Amino acid sequence: MTAPLGRRLCEVTENRASGGYRVFSLRDERGPAPEAGQFYMLAAERRWEERGGRPFLPRALSVADAEPAGGGVRLNFLLEAVGPGTERLCGLEVGEGVWVNGPLGNAFSEPRELAPGAAGAILVGGGIGVAPLALLRRRFAARGVPTQILLGFRDRAHSGGLDDLFSNCQIGLASDDGHLGERGYVTDLLAAMLEGDDAASAAVYACGPPPMLEAVRAMCAARGVACELALESPMACGFGACFGCAVPLAEGGYMRLCVDGPVVAGDRIAEVTHA
Ligand SMILES: Cc1cc2nc3c(=O)[nH]c(=O)nc-3n(C[C@H](O)[C@H](O)[C@H](O)COP(=O)(O)OP(=O)(O)OC[C@H]3O[C@@H](n4cnc5c(N)ncnc54)[C@H](O)[C@@H]3O)c2cc1C
Ligand code: FES
Repeated sequence: MTAPLGRRLCEVTENRASGGYRVFSLRDERGPAPEAGQFYMLAAERRWEERGGRPFLPRALSVADAEPAGGGVRLNFLLEAVGPGTERLCGLEVGEGVWVNGPLGNAFSEPRELAPGAAGAILVGGGIGVAPLALLRRRFAARGVPTQILLGFRDRAHSGGLDDLFSNCQIGLASDDGHLGERGYVTDLLAAMLEGDDAASAAVYACGPPPMLEAVRAMCAARGVACELALESPMACGFGACFGCAVPLAEGGYMRLCVDGPVVAGDRIAEVTHA
């Protein structure tokens, strides 16, 4: 577990459309470099409030990419506007301030840490859940881990990040409406891949909507393939204090997703549920 750092003010350095999503970047001069799978709690410095004037809680965002920049680190996030917090973050202008807490939570493991025979990785992303897989892909490439990437999107409005976060990558693509890659679910591509000879030597890493994650979990469990899932849960604090993010464990009891996750081995949970 990574201990929460003090909240610090960072400056927006870029904010641009990326398909139906937005990529926005912050210059973090004081924080450590994050690992793939970790997340940050973000709140705009100004106008972070509902119409009635009550400030929001910060919002959790996975780090989608990170690189050293001028003594600090440049953090990239992939955002989908689904409510007031993400809408405000999507509307930030270059030079505006964002309160940042992180990096928080745990990171994805190496394939051999998940299963001794797993030398390679299959990354499976759905929708805005492709975000943490971009940094994971970059880290695995730097370490020479053979990696295959499968990404799926609902429709044109709910897709993005490909050119900005996955440029020069070979990717298997699927979309529900057929606008990109094969018509169907990304889990159809995974099922076909897991039938192949390489499947036994790969570990699966997935992030996306709960039904997709549950399909990946069940598929990997049925085939004895190790997997890690980056889950979501409503998060109020992000560092273990509020218990708002509790997720039931297969063995009984609960984990706090913000400190024991968000990355969870598939066999630790009985099912990926959603409200
Ligand atoms: C670890 C983690 C990483 C995340 N990474 C990203 C990211 O990289 N990019 C991104 O765009 N979003 C990400 N999210 C999701 C984002 O934090 C939430 O959607 C956030 O609540 C949006 O705030 P809002 O004020 O815009 O909308 P809200 O008003 O909070 O919610 C809008 C709608 O989404 C539903 N909702 C909100 N949060 C959740 C949740 N956690 N689970 C299920 N339904 C929910 C609400 O019921 C409502 O229908 C992440 C969440 C977590 C926990
Ligand atoms: S978000 Fe508060 S304990 Fe996890």
